[in-house]
Amino acid sequence: PELAAVGGGAAPTVSTQETTAMSTPPTSDEACKMSQSVLATLMCAQAPGRSVYLSNRGNSLRQHRGILQEGFAQYVVNKYHDTNNPDGIINMGTSENKLCYDLLYKRLTHPDMLHIDPSLLQYSDSRGHAFLREVVAEFLSHYCCSPNPLKPDNVVVMNGCTSLFSCIAAVICDPKDAILIPTPFYGAITEDLHLYSDVKLFHVPLDCEADGKDSRAFHLTVGKLEEGLKRAKEEGLTVRALILMNPHNPLAEIYTPEEMFAFLEFCKRNELHVIVDEVYMLTVFDKSVSFHSVLSVDSLPDPQRTHVMWGLSKDFALSGIRVGTLYTENKDLLEALAQLGSFHSVPGSTQHQVAQLLQDREWIDEQFLPENRRRLKAAHSYLAQELQSMGISYLDRPACLYVWADLRKYLRESSFEEELALWRSFLRHKVVLSCGQAFFCSTPGWFRFVFADQQHHLQLGQFRTQRFLMYSRPCCKEPESKLRLESGCGFQISRGSI
Ligand SMILES: Cc1ncc(COP(=O)(O)O)c(C=O)c1O
Repeated sequence: PELAAVGGGAAPTVSTQETTAMSTPPTSDEACKMSQSVLATLMCAQAPGRSVYLSNRGNSLRQHRGILQEGFAQYVVNKYHDTNNPDGIINMGTSENKLCYDLLYKRLTHPDMLHIDPSLLQYSDSRGHAFLREVVAEFLSHYCCSPNPLKPDNVVVMNGCTSLFSCIAAVICDPKDAILIPTPFYGAITEDLHLYSDVKLFHVPLDCEADGKDSRAFHLTVGKLEEGLKRAKEEGLTVRALILMNPHNPLAEIYTPEEMFAFLEFCKRNELHVIVDEVYMLTVFDKSVSFHSVLSVDSLPDPQRTHVMWGLSKDFALSGIRVGTLYTENKDLLEALAQLGSFHSVPGSTQHQVAQLLQDREWIDEQFLPENRRRLKAAHSYLAQELQSMGISYLDRPACLYVWADLRKYLRESSFEEELALWRSFLRHKVVLSCGQAFFCSTPGWFRFVFADQQHHLQLGQFRTQRFLMYSRPCCKEPESKLRLESGCGFQISRGSI
């Protein structure tokens, strides 16, 4: 299978234009703290006042605000619709695959999906039904190329990786303990760990500039992890784990097996758990690039502290189905998670559907995956061309559902406040994107663009984004893309509305 192939080194940063000269962007821990402080200010500014009805914990939950959540909240009440709401918001901020509804509709309405038996209507094993854990173990053994068959008893199924993050943090950490994470990272993990369990993420900032021959943008190395761990200890924190995403969100980076092995050894040396989130493992759409799961490693450095997450939200474009899985050999962890499982279980009928889907190899290999990859590749090329036409640099990685792009030249000054202002302007122009500080990026000006949507949505999203940038940000010079916009995609430019 494709996943087993070796190869595919680091993909380059595509730079289509020199970045506009500006003061050296901050790349240190200080910058990371600045981004956190802008976020904190945003949260405070918009938080409702204290409620007498709630506990301290209830109040802090109610008052919590984040940028990703704010963008999404505005989108759900004003979604773009071709006929019903053409002035609504285009969502290029949430990492969802909206390209395969037809394929999924066909498969999920097949008669084998409609099955009822008493066990599906009753409470199930809190780790998930045995039949589903068997199918998941077989599925992961095959697609992760595990050297030996994975065991169903080592699988936990919950309603999404979000819940798994929350539950794992609760059982491996005490309140105020910390987990290391390189930045930028999928920012919602902050809430996953903090809201229930009061666990802190300790950031290891990665630089957006490559700093040597063997380096690349946002390059994670063991040296950086060592440094981060040392700093966390100096701050008096108890660090319990490291979180890694492979393929990465938001960088879409795929680590080589050697890199991943070195990270696992770092964790073993320091007695840290490692939670490896492989939720995008099948979302790699260039055959020349291969992904290697941690579950393919012959002999893990520390199997008792290595935990691998996967789910259906990304690879099967089923974020609404709410299914996430964990594979771990650690029995104590499995037992502790089983206690929390009943708060996070998946409905019986959905467990049945997921089992049918995951064991239908013919549909997966011959229909869904090839077509999904073809569509993702086309959507990625479209967005990449649009960014290139605007002279915007981006990380060129053929994986995941988004592109990490460098919009620093559109900032009037290099600050997180300015980045936030730009993000808000996009939102005012009815496009949700995700700005770097929502991912705790240490350099202001990076944005994540999700491309896995219908072509006409992408076109309109890009059109609104480009129109705003062209007319409102004087540092941008794009006569070529102006022409393309006016003649190319059938939307009228109206200066008045900007
Ligand atoms: C890296 C990563 N992990 C986990 C999740 C959440 O997954 P789920 O939908 O299974 O809760 C996301 C969603 O964006 C993600 O990008």
